[in-house]
Amino acid sequence: MLETNLAGIKLKNPTVLVSGILGVTGQSMARAAKGGAAAVTMKSVGPKPWLGYHNPTVVANEHFMLNAVGLPSPGYKNNEAEWNGLGELQKKDVRVFASLYAWTLEEMEEIAESIAARKPDLIEIDLSCPHMKEAGEFAFNPEQAAAAVSAVKGKAGKVPVFPKLSPNTNRMVEIAKACEEAGADGISAINTVGGMAIDIEMRKPVLANKTGGISGPAIKPVAIKAVYQLYDALKIPVLGMGGCTNGRDAIEFIQAGASAVGIGTAVYYRGIDVFSKVCLEMQQWMKENSVKSVKELVGAAHE
Ligand SMILES: Cc1cc2nc3c(=O)[nH]c(=O)nc-3n(C[C@H](O)[C@H](O)[C@H](O)COP(=O)(O)O)c2cc1C
Repeated sequence: MLETNLAGIKLKNPTVLVSGILGVTGQSMARAAKGGAAAVTMKSVGPKPWLGYHNPTVVANEHFMLNAVGLPSPGYKNNEAEWNGLGELQKKDVRVFASLYAWTLEEMEEIAESIAARKPDLIEIDLSCPHMKEAGEFAFNPEQAAAAVSAVKGKAGKVPVFPKLSPNTNRMVEIAKACEEAGADGISAINTVGGMAIDIEMRKPVLANKTGGISGPAIKPVAIKAVYQLYDALKIPVLGMGGCTNGRDAIEFIQAGASAVGIGTAVYYRGIDVFSKVCLEMQQWMKENSVKSVKELVGAAHE
């Protein structure tokens, strides 16, 4: 009933652990898989060891999480602990998605080649990183985003490549189309929404970096709009994410056009078994509404 297909990848249900949440070691990803996730995405890995921003890097309340962790990474040559046990997960029918970011196209090629050799089921490109040579984020410019996709595709072999888009631009659909033309197998959307919080007693921004990215329930309408527009504009599938917390949210993403749904911040609200909970809630809704398969629902809000 819950099986779905994402660019040829068979998923036993539509829930996917998103990048950056628990995907830091093979063990934590195994916990998410035990908690019901059909696929787990690794934390984005960069070209070299990178500390990210100073603390405080995260603030959360019941509506959202605001973070500026700043893509900390041991670098792709030092992230053995993250790959530990992932082959075992794949044997248990859990799909493993890798994620990379870089400042130059050459670095992207280098990382993609190394990652592809480990045979993940999908490679996500976190485009929300500034291009050192061109300045500005890959995610904000169609030509740069397309160049990133070509670079990674050139080294990925048969592994499907999904660029992950930022909602912090009014060119998102144009950027997605450029990625599709460059050979992307699908699109992940959305990354966090730019935001800020101020501690009024301290009269200071809460985050050391001052601004950060919002995730969780508050951004769901932004994500739903993005997925809806992408489904209209593209032929390739969409992995939708941003604030999905329960079964009804997941169904909303799927009706907007997502073939599968990423879940991240909701792990903090509902625990590591949020994936199983979302699946149960989806099944209940589907039974009540006489829906037999996820396929019937993908893009249903467009009809
Ligand atoms: C603490 C934190 C770290 C994140 N790190 C990454 C990352 O390394 N790479 C990436 O592509 N997205 C990263 N994200 C974005 C998430 O993968 C996801 O796109 C976003 O949080 C929206 O989904 P959610 O509302 O279900 O959390 C991070 C998000 C959070 C909250």
